[in-house]
Amino acid sequence: MKRLLVTGAAGFIGANFVHYWLSQHADDRVVVLDALTYAGNLETLMPLMDKPNFRFVKGNIGNTELVELLLREEQIDTLVHFAAESHVDRSITGPDAFVETNIIGTHSLLKAARSVWLADPANPLPHRFHHVSTDEVYGTLGANDPAFTEQTQYAPNSPYSASKAASDHLVRAYHHTYGLNVTTSNCSNNYGYYHFPEKLIPLCLTNILEGKPLPIYGDGKQIRDWLFVEDHCRGIELVLQKGVTGETYNIGGVNEWQNIDIVNLLCELMDGEFAADASLAERYPQSPCAQGKPANSLITYVKDRAGHDRRYAIDCSKIERELGFKPAETFETGVRKTVRWYLDNQSWVDNVKSGAYQTWIDQQYTKRK
Ligand code: NAD
Ligand code: TYD
Repeated sequence: MKRLLVTGAAGFIGANFVHYWLSQHADDRVVVLDALTYAGNLETLMPLMDKPNFRFVKGNIGNTELVELLLREEQIDTLVHFAAESHVDRSITGPDAFVETNIIGTHSLLKAARSVWLADPANPLPHRFHHVSTDEVYGTLGANDPAFTEQTQYAPNSPYSASKAASDHLVRAYHHTYGLNVTTSNCSNNYGYYHFPEKLIPLCLTNILEGKPLPIYGDGKQIRDWLFVEDHCRGIELVLQKGVTGETYNIGGVNEWQNIDIVNLLCELMDGEFAADASLAERYPQSPCAQGKPANSLITYVKDRAGHDRRYAIDCSKIERELGFKPAETFETGVRKTVRWYLDNQSWVDNVKSGAYQTWIDQQYTKRK
């Protein structure tokens, strides 16, 4: 039985991870530490709140004493670190928070882990620090360049990717210098349930329903590799179970798409959903699909993102070969499920967008404690 501390699990991937983990490891203890920034939504974790082996703690990863306390009092043996500022556009307009959370916050966690798990370096407590990172640390690729491997030189281009790269280096250094038992995974773009609607896929899905423009940056021909979020969670599970300490593992879907093609696909799928279910037009009257127009009539080309990376592609043969990783979802099945989820969970989207849930759920949570 493991005892996990999961940071940032009120956000997109962390929340999917704890739901997945508890579905697969029902007896494990899971403690979540999350500061509930704009991207954190406690509503997503509400179904877990009454489980005796689940605990939510509102707090900042930069609070070293709090993390030390949790590691000791919960006898944590596995720390899975998702907490981050994660949106590239926000890192361009406000990089400070990225340095604060992604670099200084990660360092604070490492210090806490070292002080508790390696208090007696000759007799370390059993432990693993798993750091969740991104393929964006490797920079950008030309159309014919080979995909990123774990040996690709770091060349981050945005304040977001630079801050993640710095955190990866700190994690590596704590292993090399102090012997902390660490692993790191660098994953490509995720999509799926509970995705905050500022990122491309959930933004487009919610904008189609609300009849708002679908902004395409630049020429829309930038390429990303996409992976269903639960497959990312499976990859992290494999690294925790079988990964070698000190190693890094690329995780991806081997599934490259141009942005404009993704957006057109989402439009087609949404058109199909409205054609198949007449009640959708009543629920989403602002959508062009409810007014006899195709969703792609909302596509609007806008000014490109500053420093926009052209292409990411990930070679995940190491995790396939060494740990047996294989995505369970194809892009076709994963995107269909995601479209359906956004159609069926309008209240989650409304709550997360209005921010109403922040105060409401905070109050509920405080009452419960
Ligand atoms: P997210 O923005 O949806 O969620 C981040 C979570 O971290 C939120 O719940 C937020 O409240 C919390 N948080 C932020 N600052 C905090 C702090 N100082 N202390 C405690 N909690 C804090 O992010 P995500 O998309 O779920 O990404 C999770 C991790 O995965 C990040 O480290 C990101 O770099 C990495 N990653 C993301 C993707 C992707 O496609 N989204 C791909 C590869 C890697
Ligand atoms: P995003 O979801 O922000 O992820 P990342 O920047 O981490 O890859 O963006 C995915 C791609 O979509 C990226 O090339 C930027 C582009 N994009 C748009 O064209 N329009 C948008 O409104 C957004 C949010 C992103």
